Amino acid sequence: PEKVTVKDLAEKIGKNVSEVMGKLIALGVFATINQEIDFDTAELISTDFGIAIEKEEVKEEIEIGLEQEEDRPEDLKARPPVITVMGHVDHGKTSLLDAIRNTNVTSREAGGITQHIGASEVEVHGNKIVFLDTPGHEAFTSMRARGASITDIAILVVAADDGVMPQTKEAINHAKAANVPIIVAMNKIDKPGINSDRVKQELSDHGILIEEWGGETILVPVSAKTGEGIETLLEMILLAAEMLELKANPKRYATGTVIEAKLDKGRGPVATILIQNGTLKVGDSVVAGSSYGRIRAMINDKGKQIKKAGPSTPVEILGLSDAPEAGDLFHAVKEDKIARQIVEKRKAKDREENLNATAKVTLEDLFKHI
Ligand code: GTP
Ligand code: MG
Repeated sequence: PEKVTVKDLAEKIGKNVSEVMGKLIALGVFATINQEIDFDTAELISTDFGIAIEKEEVKEEIEIGLEQEEDRPEDLKARPPVITVMGHVDHGKTSLLDAIRNTNVTSREAGGITQHIGASEVEVHGNKIVFLDTPGHEAFTSMRARGASITDIAILVVAADDGVMPQTKEAINHAKAANVPIIVAMNKIDKPGINSDRVKQELSDHGILIEEWGGETILVPVSAKTGEGIETLLEMILLAAEMLELKANPKRYATGTVIEAKLDKGRGPVATILIQNGTLKVGDSVVAGSSYGRIRAMINDKGKQIKKAGPSTPVEILGLSDAPEAGDLFHAVKEDKIARQIVEKRKAKDREENLNATAKVTLEDLFKHI
């Protein structure tokens, strides 16, 4: 049921708080100024003042409308491609991204293992490309299970000295299931005694037929160590992206997906999100899974504070009520109240589902014992 604080009610019906409190006391309700009273009580008091009130309801359509609002064709603008780098452990995903970014993330990571999903933007011949590094496939799997699709193209990193390994196969399956085009980066070609035909054969055995062998998949031999082939890989990515004709509408409220989130001791809930449509601005009211809030600050992949971010931008946001989960969808909405009400509705639905699940288990347990 809808509730309103004594103070808000007084404001809404244009009466003094003391007048409202007086009426409440007459009803036997001793409420403080910030206490919430239910709608029926609020209505009783208002009627007593000769004022009719109505429930302010957030309509179901708002939530549905968020997801289905159509973009007008003239508002659609080209957006940068979002690339996920996948592959077996130690095949060089982070090193490759490093080589692309010309930074040195690998040596900074504890034990050289990726600790989180990193997101970064690079510019190639004036074109932006957004890269997501995955620590494994769990994140990708959980996102896909939640219906989130975040990547336009998958880069499959295969170490030339190791070939197709279990996680390479998983990555192939994920990309195929998500219907995402694959570009193979055959890495570590600087190593001596490489047999690239063996790698190509193994790929073909797993349903990846490269162009050279009459298929459609592009394979670029690269070395994250020497930088060989990196330029070609980037050009192939741009070419593949061009064919996808990726577009988004920068004019609408931002929507996207949570890539990772955590509770930071100093900064509170921090979420890295990928904006997939619209433009997000500092001060916007947002909903992500069962958290909501107003964007207090936005930080880009280079650690810089920014005021707004358009489609295909990965950003860290501050200001949420809790840390959402990776794969949660993200929406900017018109006002705080809507964000809060959507989350309340989602939480109520979750509670109901949990209750149903519990009830079912109990019933089954009951039958077990009969
Ligand atoms: P995880 O994040 O743990 O799955 O590993 P990763 O795929 O990100 O591999 P990472 O980039 O950490 O590289 C693993 C090891 O391979 C490191 O010791 C790198 O220095 C080495 N390596 C990566 N690329 C190359 C390459 O092109 N040539 C050579 N010789 N070594 C490489
Ligand atoms: Mg890594």
